[in-house]
Amino acid sequence: MNDPAVSGFPDPADYSGVRTGPLQVGERVTLTDPKGRRHSVVLAAGQRFHTAKGAIEHDDLIGGPEGVVVTSVGGVAYLALRPLLGEFTVGMPRGAQVVYPKDAAQIVVGADIFPGARVLEAGAGSGALSLALLRAIGPTGRLTSYERREDFAAVAAKNVRNFLGTEHPAWDLRVGDLTVALGAGEGADPGAPEQVDRVVLDMLAPWECVDTIAERLVPGGVICCYVATTTQLGRITETLRVHGGFTEPEASESMIRDWHVEGLSIRPAHRMVGHTGFLLTSRRLAPGVVAPTRKRRPAPGAYGEDYTGPRRAEPAAGGTET
Ligand SMILES: C[S@@+](CC[C@H](N)C(=O)[O-])C[C@H]1O[C@@H](n2cnc3c(N)ncnc32)[C@H](O)[C@@H]1O
Repeated sequence: MNDPAVSGFPDPADYSGVRTGPLQVGERVTLTDPKGRRHSVVLAAGQRFHTAKGAIEHDDLIGGPEGVVVTSVGGVAYLALRPLLGEFTVGMPRGAQVVYPKDAAQIVVGADIFPGARVLEAGAGSGALSLALLRAIGPTGRLTSYERREDFAAVAAKNVRNFLGTEHPAWDLRVGDLTVALGAGEGADPGAPEQVDRVVLDMLAPWECVDTIAERLVPGGVICCYVATTTQLGRITETLRVHGGFTEPEASESMIRDWHVEGLSIRPAHRMVGHTGFLLTSRRLAPGVVAPTRKRRPAPGAYGEDYTGPRRAEPAAGGTET
């Protein structure tokens, strides 16, 4: 186990947002009622949480373990637990729509985020994905997150601080448009990272910064784009192909279906989140190397006259399709 005093490395647990031991003043707990409704409460000495069935004293929780049941004055039992990261992100205040935990999980593995990684992210939005990335890189990594809306960046900063209970030493949240910040023109950000290991984009037009990202992503580094619509998915895929300095993009989406398990009644839940977004991953080739042409023929009409997106050069007569 890492002893920061001996190793000189910060203790990653300090910046994970995970706490154990007795509940303390200032900590957030989730109170879940018998119907499964959740209420987020920040513990304060002498305070009360008011419910329709009477109040709950914060002092009944402070100093005790989590995972306990507290009963309101009106006799309703509430389960008290510290929120997990995924629970916190879906319940926290939002500027922009957040990345759901199922997608954050896919992104962390799909983009191969590792402890100590230098990661470039845009847009920070409400900070949900930033929190997942920060947990994965730990305090020895570097997450540079761009957000073009100052008000959203403020929400993201507050959410991250609220969950972690502190500033994260590896996080650099920058207000600005990623495309402009990485460019060479007016508005270029001198503080932008020169080189990164991974790029994670959850923004409207990720194709606009493929060229500038290619200059900063290390050979073998991963770009991961999260987009909501098929038109975005097509455009970023074709833009990466046209660039040529990336591996063949891989696209996917994930769906999670909850299950109801009770005695003999074991069946899928009646409701589910049908669509969140698509994930696309690709890897940077070494500078000057161009991706080999694909041997697979596109479906008839895939690039027909109605197709108006980015297009690779036509293959030589008799050559393979690209
Ligand atoms: C869907 S939200 C991101 C949500 C975020 N991943 C989260 O989990 O909370 C998309 C964000 O990208 C920002 N954005 C769009 N284009 C951008 C750009 N070119 N540079 C920086 N931020 C951008 C938007 O302002 C918006 O906040």
